[in-house]
Amino acid sequence: MNAIDLNAVTKSFPAFELGPIDLGIRKGELLGIFGPPSSGKTSVLKIILGLLQQDGGEVALAGVSGSELGVSERGLSMVFQNLALFPHLSGAENITFPLREAGTDATRIAERLEAVSRVLHVEHILHKKPGQMSGGERQRIALGRALAAESGAVLLDEPISALDARLREEMRLELKRLQREQGQTFVYVSHDEEEVMAIADRIAILIDGKIAQLGTPDEVYNTPATSAVAALVGSPPMNLIPGRVAEDGRSFQSDALKDPIALPRQVRAGPVTLGVRPKTSTSRRARRTPLPFASSRSNRWAATASSTLPLRVSRCAFAPHVTSPRATISPRPCVSTSRACTSSIRTATASDPCRIGDIP
Ligand SMILES: Nc1ncnc2c1ncn2[C@@H]1O[C@H](COP(=O)(O)OP(=O)(O)OP(=O)(O)O)[C@@H](O)[C@H]1O
Ligand SMILES: [Mg+2]
Repeated sequence: MNAIDLNAVTKSFPAFELGPIDLGIRKGELLGIFGPPSSGKTSVLKIILGLLQQDGGEVALAGVSGSELGVSERGLSMVFQNLALFPHLSGAENITFPLREAGTDATRIAERLEAVSRVLHVEHILHKKPGQMSGGERQRIALGRALAAESGAVLLDEPISALDARLREEMRLELKRLQREQGQTFVYVSHDEEEVMAIADRIAILIDGKIAQLGTPDEVYNTPATSAVAALVGSPPMNLIPGRVAEDGRSFQSDALKDPIALPRQVRAGPVTLGVRPKTSTSRRARRTPLPFASSRSNRWAATASSTLPLRVSRCAFAPHVTSPRATISPRPCVSTSRACTSSIRTATASDPCRIGDIP
């Protein structure tokens, strides 16, 4: 049985339609929800929590319909995007508030406080009131309150966005460890793709109020279901080159490419979109590597081949950990993350993963 089910859930706002959303969140999983701003991420969490009433469909918690459960009976805790701490309580009192409300015994409360404070590095601010804390400190206290509560599932809405990069990286790993150790269900909303890809077991990609794809980080990255997902996931974004598979089904042609690309085996002719991840292209000097193609849906296929694609590098960004050039294909803006890669045009070999498909 799933920890949380959303069945055909809809909600209409004057200028926004959410859903219908069908989503089963497994017990003990960390489900990431990732999407552009205003795509409905927070609204989904609020509907699960019961703070926002859906117009249609049903939410079920461990098989029990949400219509039979008030907010406090759902066994959920939530870290809100716009933190809600009690201003008159200290950090420690804020963290332990739900446990005290639930009548948990004092020894257990002390244990939980110590455990989450250690993970979140807040031991030194436990005595402070929220008004005396920085934004990042308040965020960690809010997180501590949700984690200490020992709820069935924790809903996290951009829980570490106010922290600096180093702390964010450390915190997300700690959160993942804590979630695994306790076998808790987490629903984790973030607009930070790297963050959500790093910790989620599965990701729901939310675009314009609808789930465009649900899959593992690997699936949404390597086999995006639609071109909108392909364009959203990955930074710099995947190159999407409209074109067609020739009548003989043996080559891909596009106005954006000088020469057709030979396909590793015959496929259905017709319009397709070729997707190439910038980071999978290597410079002319690099060894040729296999180029798997995969199409979507009705025309799914994969094989290995190698292909040379004309790349124009028009923008460079320094990334110390990347040594090979990354480029997007002409005529779209191109990106290299190698400092050395300042020359304007090169020929590159596209390597894994490359995708051709009649994706919408
Ligand atoms: N109570 C409301 N009344 C009217 N419109 C609303 C209400 N709540 C949300 N919306 C609209 O619904 C859309 C989705 O909002 P939501 O907060 O769920 O998006 P989000 O993905 O969490 O965005 P962000 O990334 O900025 O946090 C937005 O266009 C928002 O203006
Ligand atoms: Mg939001």
